[in-house]
Amino acid sequence: MKVIKVKNQQEGGKVAFDLFKEALAGGAKVLGLATGSTPISFYNEVVNSDLDLSNLTSINLDEYVGLDGTSDQSYRYFMQSHLFDAKPLKETFVPDGKAKDLAAYVKEYDKIIDAHPIDWQVLGLGQNGHIGFNEPGTSTDMTTHVVDLQESTIKANARFFEKESDVPRQAISMGIASIMKSKQLIVMAWGAEKAEAVKKMIEGPVTIDLPASILQTRDNVTVIIDEAAASKLSN
Ligand code: GLP
Repeated sequence: MKVIKVKNQQEGGKVAFDLFKEALAGGAKVLGLATGSTPISFYNEVVNSDLDLSNLTSINLDEYVGLDGTSDQSYRYFMQSHLFDAKPLKETFVPDGKAKDLAAYVKEYDKIIDAHPIDWQVLGLGQNGHIGFNEPGTSTDMTTHVVDLQESTIKANARFFEKESDVPRQAISMGIASIMKSKQLIVMAWGAEKAEAVKKMIEGPVTIDLPASILQTRDNVTVIIDEAAASKLSN
């Protein structure tokens, strides 16, 4: 794991953007993308650049069950408004929150991932150490699956909804096994509320209780954190 400490998320977005340009220069064609507030500064850098993404494919990590792309809390809507509308890609995959047969759909999403191996994966970090929507306790063997969201995640994400009871209770998420197949991974985290998860991800034992800690077992992982998120690290 390589750790890059920055002053704030704007600076972090610029660092991620530089790494992104390097990855493109190195031939990256398939991006693994994340939603949430964390990657926004990175997406802003991309949108304000002169990069052409029209030969790239993207695969998103997750989506709420029950929301379709027209709902402004859906992750499809997030991606369209923060990146895809301004910078069209060749193909973009976000799990279908309205899929009728979820058990069949997660297998279909796995096939999409297998057909488009991810070169460069963006990850945020949940306050409880989740990546994608892989909550603490999730087996590292999982591929795409349906997740029952934990109470702490529902609370943390309630800020994007009118009221907490509107937060869907389930999501479709790429599994940890799928995420770990990516050639390169970039994890970003900003703010003091992520400091504990950041410390455990980098310095704690590798355990399913802190899903992001598995990233310690991979070489091509770059962590970009601001001062507040780094504040609990011992060095
Ligand atoms: C959400 C998403 C994750 C995201 C994380 C952090 O629940 N499923 O992909 O990385 O939680 O969210 P935020 O970036 O808003 O802090």
